[in-house]
Amino acid sequence: MSENMIRYERDDEGIVTLTMDDPNAGANTMNATYKDAMAETVERLEAEKDDITGVVLTSGKKTFFAGGNLADLQKATRETVGDVFAEVELIKSQLRRLEQLGKPVVAAINGTALGGGLEIALACHHRIAVDDAKVKLGLPEVTLGLLPGGGGVTRLVRMLGIAPALMDWLLQGQQRTPAEAHAKGVIDELVATRDELVPAAKAWILAHKDDAAAGTKAWDVKGYKIPGGTPTTPAFAANLPAFPANLRKQLKGSPVKSPRSIMSAAVEGAQVDFDTASRIESRYFADLTAGRESTAMIQAFFFDLQSINSGALRPAGVERRASAKVGILGAGMMGAGIAYSAAMSGIEVVLKDVSVEGAEKGKAYSEKLLAKRVARGKSDQAKADEVLARITPTADYADLAGCDVVIEAVFEDYNLKKQVFAEVEAVVGPDTLLCSNTSTLPITSLQGFSSRPQDFIGLHFFSPVDKMQLVEIIRGEQTSDEATARAIDIVQQIRKIPIVVGDGRGFYTSRVFGTLIDEGAQLVAEGVDPHVIERAATSAGFPAPPLAMLDEVSLTLTQHIRGEAAKAAKAEGREVTRTPGEEVIDTLVELGRKGRAAGAGLYDYPEGEPKVLWPELRQRWSKDTEIPLRDLHDRYLFRMALETAACFESGVLTDTQSANIGGIFGIGFPPHTGGPATFMTNYEGGLRGFVARANELADAYGDRFRPSAWLTERAAIGTLVDATPEAKAS
Ligand code: NAI
Repeated sequence: MSENMIRYERDDEGIVTLTMDDPNAGANTMNATYKDAMAETVERLEAEKDDITGVVLTSGKKTFFAGGNLADLQKATRETVGDVFAEVELIKSQLRRLEQLGKPVVAAINGTALGGGLEIALACHHRIAVDDAKVKLGLPEVTLGLLPGGGGVTRLVRMLGIAPALMDWLLQGQQRTPAEAHAKGVIDELVATRDELVPAAKAWILAHKDDAAAGTKAWDVKGYKIPGGTPTTPAFAANLPAFPANLRKQLKGSPVKSPRSIMSAAVEGAQVDFDTASRIESRYFADLTAGRESTAMIQAFFFDLQSINSGALRPAGVERRASAKVGILGAGMMGAGIAYSAAMSGIEVVLKDVSVEGAEKGKAYSEKLLAKRVARGKSDQAKADEVLARITPTADYADLAGCDVVIEAVFEDYNLKKQVFAEVEAVVGPDTLLCSNTSTLPITSLQGFSSRPQDFIGLHFFSPVDKMQLVEIIRGEQTSDEATARAIDIVQQIRKIPIVVGDGRGFYTSRVFGTLIDEGAQLVAEGVDPHVIERAATSAGFPAPPLAMLDEVSLTLTQHIRGEAAKAAKAEGREVTRTPGEEVIDTLVELGRKGRAAGAGLYDYPEGEPKVLWPELRQRWSKDTEIPLRDLHDRYLFRMALETAACFESGVLTDTQSANIGGIFGIGFPPHTGGPATFMTNYEGGLRGFVARANELADAYGDRFRPSAWLTERAAIGTLVDATPEAKAS
């Protein structure tokens, strides 16, 4: 069986070509098949060494090697740390034997090599890659709460020096094209086509046949020194304290563990010999696999994203289709951003506003973004011109004829939207998908006025559109499965990540986000120092703290949303009372402090300087109330998670992928938690433990933390939803 996984072919010149090609999988991973095959391969190479000139390592798959076995790693616990350590040491010992075979080993990288895949290549003496920008090379472990434990930290530190290894590859998990990796010293040689790879590798081996150094790593030669110095070199040691300081700055207070472990493994490993360093790396790796962070991050950033990308949320049985032409109504901030993203993905865009000047202004936004890309060397002028030429500004509805999809982004006004859709439906064909980018208006009520309510759907983009990857797709009561599938198609076509939610006030993301800023205002009302309120959020892992976000959103907008909710509640005969946090907001608005756009809110915005919390905020409300940091963290996390649970309960959410990915990518729920749904189920003691802690918070801070009867019941079952979409499909 192992013969199949790594083909072993020796040519007349004694060059062995090893082709990794797992017969049971679409990509090569570090599974049992690989380990057995590699063990056998290394043994054979050692036995036949005298007849071998060199070794070429390549792949029979589209990708070079996909990396570690994440499903297994995700299951690791404290009890299995020892097993993980032993396992990774075994994999590494095989690569080390290849590295010390005494013959040149050349990696011929035909496709993407991430994580363990790149680590295999790093064990080789020479790396040749195909010069194809679609190929990605990198060590993204940090984004999964892990560290490159297959020798990645140890080898990169020795190849590049500690600082470049950390900054360029390890701490942010950058994925680079072969050309970029070549410029950064990780790829030695580029070839234009895949067919040239193995011949180039063989040529290199033959050219270095008599050069013993070609088959020896620099660090295996006596007297080797790490480039740029190590913590024991005086000049380097003087700079060492800056390392953790810079990391803290980069992490902005996030408690995420993996970058810290990566830095420790790199710095500690640089002070000892290769094999000791490699063991240090394995220890940190095993420790990270056992923690909650890697379990959560692997779930979100690998499994949840993969399932969304592979279409798990897409209703079955609808043929996938690409859109050639998209109409966008409203060339304001959102419309202009959507037009840019669509044109960048090769789609023809008709951008309509009330006047041609208005539409042209929207197009000018793309021009500005494209000019920036050209200036930064990310694109060239010809390509930028091509993208720009795809956007046709107009004031005439008739130009929307022939659009596959229409996306409305006019002012947030119910009657205006109603009227705009009537005009659109008069000119487009019966096959056009009708989308609204409304941020607050229920889709069900808007589609009620459409002549084709089944083809009407919410497509909620986030601002700034060019940077935000998420799009929240909202199904109205009458939206068809076909429309949902087509909405997912268009979102993916413009290279964004779709989540699918049901209709309701604030849909999913805005509704949950509202609880974070409400809790921030509530803490002000309770007399907690505003600086403490903000710092607690960043140290919980939120990218932006609640009072700053409240200013961004604007206090008056939150009042408006609250007013609308109150109207609806009244109509249903429910009583609405003002919360202490809402009182704070109302007082600030009365004082003219409406938020950032108004120039003052919870913060002051001095011209040309960073914003500062309004000093009077503290004087007016703060009673120096002290709340333990853990409780502050949990008050944010639990408010949002409980609201997420309420979305499941009411049917706004039906799958955990949308909950997690929407939470992280849309509203900054701390990434290391894996998103709101995983935060609940991955909590200590599982969903039951989460419910118990929520009850504790409710006793201490109020009933908004009290888990519902539904959630308490789900905790007894142990899962939030009965089955994931994939499970349902299978
Ligand atoms: P905006 O005020 O920047 O742009 C609205 C544009 O619509 C203006 O250019 C206006 O001239 C145009 N317009 C008005 N009537 C029109 C008509 N009959 N035909 C064509 N164009 C017309 O507003 P923004 O911020 O771009 O918001 C647009 C929509 O997106 C709103 O529904 C908003 O709630 C929603 N949204 C906004 C987000 C944000 O962060 N600003 C985020 C997500 C959704």
